[in-house]
Amino acid sequence: MSETCESTSIVIFGASGDLTWRKLIPALYNNFKKGWLSECANVVGFARREYADEAFREHLREGVAQFSPKTFDPAVWEQFAERLHYFAGNFGQADAYFKLDSYLHTLEDGPSNRLYYLATAPEFYGPIAGHLGEAGMSRDDETFGSWRRIIIEKPFGRDLASAQELNRAVHAAFDERQVYRIDHYLGKETSQNILFFRFANAIFEPVWNRRYVSNVQITVAESVDVGGRAGYYDKSGVVRDMFQNHLFQLLALVAMEPPASFEADAVRNEKVKVFQSIRPIDLNDTVRAQYDDYRAAKGVAPDSQTPTYAALKLFVDNWRWKGVPFYLRSGKALKRKTTEIIIEFQRPPHLMFNLPEDARLTPNLISLCIQPDEGIHLGFQAKVPDSDQELRSVDMDFHYRDSFKDRSLPEAYERLLLEALKGDAALFTRSDGIEASWKVIDSVVRGWEAQNLPPLVTYPRGAWGPAEADQLLARAGHEWRLGCVD
Ligand code: BG6
Repeated sequence: MSETCESTSIVIFGASGDLTWRKLIPALYNNFKKGWLSECANVVGFARREYADEAFREHLREGVAQFSPKTFDPAVWEQFAERLHYFAGNFGQADAYFKLDSYLHTLEDGPSNRLYYLATAPEFYGPIAGHLGEAGMSRDDETFGSWRRIIIEKPFGRDLASAQELNRAVHAAFDERQVYRIDHYLGKETSQNILFFRFANAIFEPVWNRRYVSNVQITVAESVDVGGRAGYYDKSGVVRDMFQNHLFQLLALVAMEPPASFEADAVRNEKVKVFQSIRPIDLNDTVRAQYDDYRAAKGVAPDSQTPTYAALKLFVDNWRWKGVPFYLRSGKALKRKTTEIIIEFQRPPHLMFNLPEDARLTPNLISLCIQPDEGIHLGFQAKVPDSDQELRSVDMDFHYRDSFKDRSLPEAYERLLLEALKGDAALFTRSDGIEASWKVIDSVVRGWEAQNLPPLVTYPRGAWGPAEADQLLARAGHEWRLGCVD
């Protein structure tokens, strides 16, 4: 294997599915176009459905043209398409793996790296890993120095017990260092920037703690409803679908201590410590809700108790954050799509200005705008011109679209696939992190089910959630802030 041309097979299990079509192939295509994919990489789709290579390529071409229209270039596509192959097989059957292995050898130029991407239904993750192990396809080839890695899509389990079971099944064939668990929020440019914002600047970190921060808010609001995914969603709900993974990863990035290096385990050690420091959540500090007509959706049980919205108040019991509430909320069918993190600072201890008695100034806010209007805003008070002592909240804004006109923001999967190919797992979750986050989430979901507390409430489509979520903050004198949408 030459340095410049490492033979690598990227094998996608579940290649006839939506994820491959919408996300994975467009991401690989864009990396290829930028010259970032090894010239000796092949992409092999593996699924049950019969496809000739040509028909498979045609199907994928439509996906790239549709989901990456700005970068789609027919000439580049033709070059990329030569690397796409398809192999039909039943991934539930052991002998399919021996056949796949032989097929891969016919494509590979001698000893080759292998990246297995599990884009199947979650119940197949454990069995596929097991079959890869049995077929001798999971161990690195130490003689020739070629590696084997496995990427596993979410959801990684549906509670602590199933996540532990899946970890055991995967570890029977792969070492943890070979395992790359996807959370696509970690691939978002703006999520990655959180650590750069905090630790590549000297002015924020000194105030990033309980002495100056009043509370932290994480909002992941979606305007879409459950759409055609109701069958999956009704068994999952917003806490499993969004909190255990995406919101908790954002929480970890905001709350973690600086790692000594950017090395994967150094970063992930600090994240795990955050999850382990979360105080068991009091059910009175939770809100669960459904949008009005959720139960009418096809695939949803008529008496469904599945929340499409939740809000949680939690505490990270450590030296930095003791006593600072972290408010997390997420839901579907809300007013706008926005993902943002607000760091709300304490109010000035004394105001010497001549203000009305009931004046309540908006505190300083740092808004980390994850999407869709990516950027960072700092809210502060300014004297209104030509007034005596009147104050008004103003904003210092950074927008990616203005500051990085020459660079568009890549799709999360582009970065994640590159990192897995590079062998850097910093943007992937580790087994202990997954288990620690499930432990926190399990107690909430179980508590709701066992005690039916707090009652499930409803909210109208297009609202920001139920009134109960506002009351959750009002009890502590706080209110939900939105710093990234008008
Ligand atoms: C997925 C969830 O992981 O993330 C979906 O399963 C959700 O329910 C999606 O819509 C949100 O991702 P994004 O990148 O659009 O914020």
